[in-house]
Amino acid sequence: MKRVRLGIIGMGNIGGYHADYLLAGKVNRCELVAVCSTSPNKLENYKSKGLKIFDDGEKLIRSGAVDAVIIATPHYQHSSLGIAALEAGLHLMSEKPIAAHKADAERLIAAHKKNKKLVFAAMFQLRTEPRYLKIQKLIQNGELGDIVRLSWIITDWYRTEAYYSSGGWRATWKGEGGGVLLNQCLHNLDTLQWLCGMPSSVRGFCQLGRYHNIEVEDNVTAYLEYPNGAAGVFITSTGESPGANRFEIAGTRGKVVLEKDKLTFTRNEVDMIQFSKTSRAGFLKPDVWNVEIPFENSAAPHATLMQNFIDAVLDDAALIVPGADGIHSVELANVMLYSSLIGETVKLPMDSAAYEKKLKQLIAGSKLEKKVVEAANEDFTKSFHR
Ligand SMILES: NC(=O)c1ccc[n+]([C@@H]2O[C@H](COP(=O)([O-])OP(=O)(O)OC[C@H]3O[C@@H](n4cnc5c(N)ncnc54)[C@H](O)[C@@H]3O)[C@@H](O)[C@H]2O)c1
Repeated sequence: MKRVRLGIIGMGNIGGYHADYLLAGKVNRCELVAVCSTSPNKLENYKSKGLKIFDDGEKLIRSGAVDAVIIATPHYQHSSLGIAALEAGLHLMSEKPIAAHKADAERLIAAHKKNKKLVFAAMFQLRTEPRYLKIQKLIQNGELGDIVRLSWIITDWYRTEAYYSSGGWRATWKGEGGGVLLNQCLHNLDTLQWLCGMPSSVRGFCQLGRYHNIEVEDNVTAYLEYPNGAAGVFITSTGESPGANRFEIAGTRGKVVLEKDKLTFTRNEVDMIQFSKTSRAGFLKPDVWNVEIPFENSAAPHATLMQNFIDAVLDDAALIVPGADGIHSVELANVMLYSSLIGETVKLPMDSAAYEKKLKQLIAGSKLEKKVVEAANEDFTKSFHR
């Protein structure tokens, strides 16, 4: 194979965005040959461009027209269509989340294990962003020392009622499986676990429909404990304005803070634990150096991940985001909600079957009737650089 024939399933906001850069030739050795959506109005533009058009994901998967697919539908279909694609011998790029809940993520990963020669990647484009790569370097080089505390206040995911009314699937247990955690924050949760690992226990406090006429969570405070004793808090909301985005990691060798497009590292000259154990004075602190770390935003993060996916299919390149990694952010989103729903601290790994059962109860008990109103045309890409 010299070029990968690609199909996109789900042609809403992000499906259309992927199609634009692919048709503009931004990804080498990749040809967008087919698009699929259950909304026929989303497909009109592509007919004249000579693409094959499908109204059903399974039909595209079985068509023989493509070698690989991007799944960009609402969350629940990521795992069902993903499994169908892998079983049909297609390489898979899944939009985030890789599944609506952990048990579905496990099913998708199991389907990939049976078809190991296929490439399965996930669209977590923050992993290409220099600001996070620089934080990763500080951690991996040992410059931060052992992580002792972290906090991410990410309350600038403000969304209006019009946003929630714009899609029948949005912010419902049945259509989306969760709210701000599974949708807006999933990138942050992936980044958090990619940089700092998974916690060993989580206590979540989630308010359902605190700010909007929705049944899922739109305001969250969660406490996380890590295997080495480090403590963390994760705070998010889609109802707060102006909100904040401040990510802080404290280690024994210093503290890194990412806020308002500024990345600063305050470096302890000596390890704070060592200092405490050896200092003879009671009120002294380690001397610090303040370092401002410059960074640019990634120019085309989605296209970068797609190029990596194509290179993995054609040349066995190592994936930036292997699809199986996607289970961790799903588990974090699920466990914060689950802990809140049952009012208890939950140890990880979370019992995926117990959570699936809880979610099914929420779906069965849902009384919300949603009126869908198409939102005004606006640039949704403004929300990318978090
Ligand atoms: N990586 C990112 O930056 C990013 C950004 C936005 C959205 N997303 C993810 O992409 C997914 C879609 O989000 P969106 O905002 O584009 O939603 P959207 O509602 O704008 O679009 C979803 C599209 O999927 C179609 N669809 C639904 N079921 C389908 C099926 N079974 N087969 C084919 N098409 C189907 C719908 O008709 C609709 O056109 C979500 O899971 C979201 O989390 C990722």
